[in-house]
Amino acid sequence: MRVTMIGTGYVGLVSGACFADFGHTVTCVDKDAGKIARLQKGEIPIFEPGLDELVKDNVEQGRLFFTTDPSAAIRDADAVFIAVGTPSRRGDGHADLSYVYAAAEEIAGLINGYTVIVNKSTVPVGTGDEVEAIIKKTNPSAEFAVVSNPEFLREGAAIGDFKRPDRVVVGTTDERARDVMRQLYRPLSLNETPIVFTERRTSELIKYAGNGFLAMKITFINEIADLCEAVGANVQEVAKGIGLDNRIGRKFLNAGPGYGGSCFPKDTLALMKTARDNNAPIELIEATVRVNSARKQKMAQKIIDAVGGELRGKTIAILGLTFKPNTDDMRDAPALDIVPALQDEGAKVRAFDPEGMNEAKHMLKDVQFATGPYDCVQNADAVVIITEWDQFRALDLDRIKDALKTPTVIDLRNIYRPDEMRAKGFKYVSVGRA
Ligand code: UGA
Repeated sequence: MRVTMIGTGYVGLVSGACFADFGHTVTCVDKDAGKIARLQKGEIPIFEPGLDELVKDNVEQGRLFFTTDPSAAIRDADAVFIAVGTPSRRGDGHADLSYVYAAAEEIAGLINGYTVIVNKSTVPVGTGDEVEAIIKKTNPSAEFAVVSNPEFLREGAAIGDFKRPDRVVVGTTDERARDVMRQLYRPLSLNETPIVFTERRTSELIKYAGNGFLAMKITFINEIADLCEAVGANVQEVAKGIGLDNRIGRKFLNAGPGYGGSCFPKDTLALMKTARDNNAPIELIEATVRVNSARKQKMAQKIIDAVGGELRGKTIAILGLTFKPNTDDMRDAPALDIVPALQDEGAKVRAFDPEGMNEAKHMLKDVQFATGPYDCVQNADAVVIITEWDQFRALDLDRIKDALKTPTVIDLRNIYRPDEMRAKGFKYVSVGRA
């Protein structure tokens, strides 16, 4: 099949490369000429494990192309994917759909013969209807169907998520379009991946309901962690104890500093807004958003308490800045709230992150960036683990202890064991493990 991907952001690039790897011929289109030139040279603008080799292989094998000119790519395509950004509109929680609508107009003028237009961007319910209306208005004779096909890719694990998904969701009632989608995802039938065919609005809502539920699940375990601290229980064991119930499931029950990233914060806000606008407010999501946002200050207070209530004149070492490991993405990372909150109380902050420091340099002020974890903790009054990068999981604890001025570790991801840390002589504070 011939696939055109509009937008070479995270979703467009991963999906384009994976479809090419499935054997389809894929052209990725972006207006940013510099980005396209870099991609043509094999330079990948994001950090995603395995993506550079996947792009390189498929370019070499003549299945993956990059261009700024959409005309030929759209004219010849069986399916045109819209994978452009839908950032939160400033001030309210609504997703900004201007890039989606601009893409729809552009596609409308160029399609030739029956074409399936697939929306992969995360868009509020009803956006597919709007895209359909724009295309009809711009090109009344166009033969097309608009399909919703949300993505469920996790940063850092996106290629695996694309190639071995739990399910694929396809929102359209057009049989011809369903057939095109079946052919596109045919390679997944080997693993018997379920394809959920549904109506377009339902598919659009599945994306938000999924992310909303996961954000709520994390927030639930974070609140249970607070209760564990208050009553002397262990949140990891609670999570295991409830997670083994198949109705609950073990995933996404790791307590921590609160969810961040480019999806959960934005999508929970958008879901909240859509629900309110339709007079069907979702109070559980509203509480999730509120609790998660307050959590960052709570984490800062945990750090302040761990160092004896006073940060003035103290140096705090931070290990991990990105919103999660295996990404360089700093969007809505808990560190962006925690670090300034410590600085406001007079702390000097030194930080290290394996991939996120370039981004973080533009987003955090007055932070000294270290060259590695041991350099970071040198002479610090405490070390805080904010992101659970693999390389922080087996640190040389004797070396850390020698380097710290006082042996205090605040582990916001529970990657160390309290008994071991105490046996090593650390003052060790973690999340939900009293
Ligand atoms: C999330 C979803 O997991 C994907 O399915 C979805 O496609 C994507 O959003 C999207 O909408 O594009 P992502 O934002 O990459 O993916 O990251 P997650 O792995 O879901 O983590 C999100 C946040 O939750 C991180 O800050 C992470 O540290 C936190 N988290 C996750 C926890 O605090 N505890 C957990 O148990 C799991």
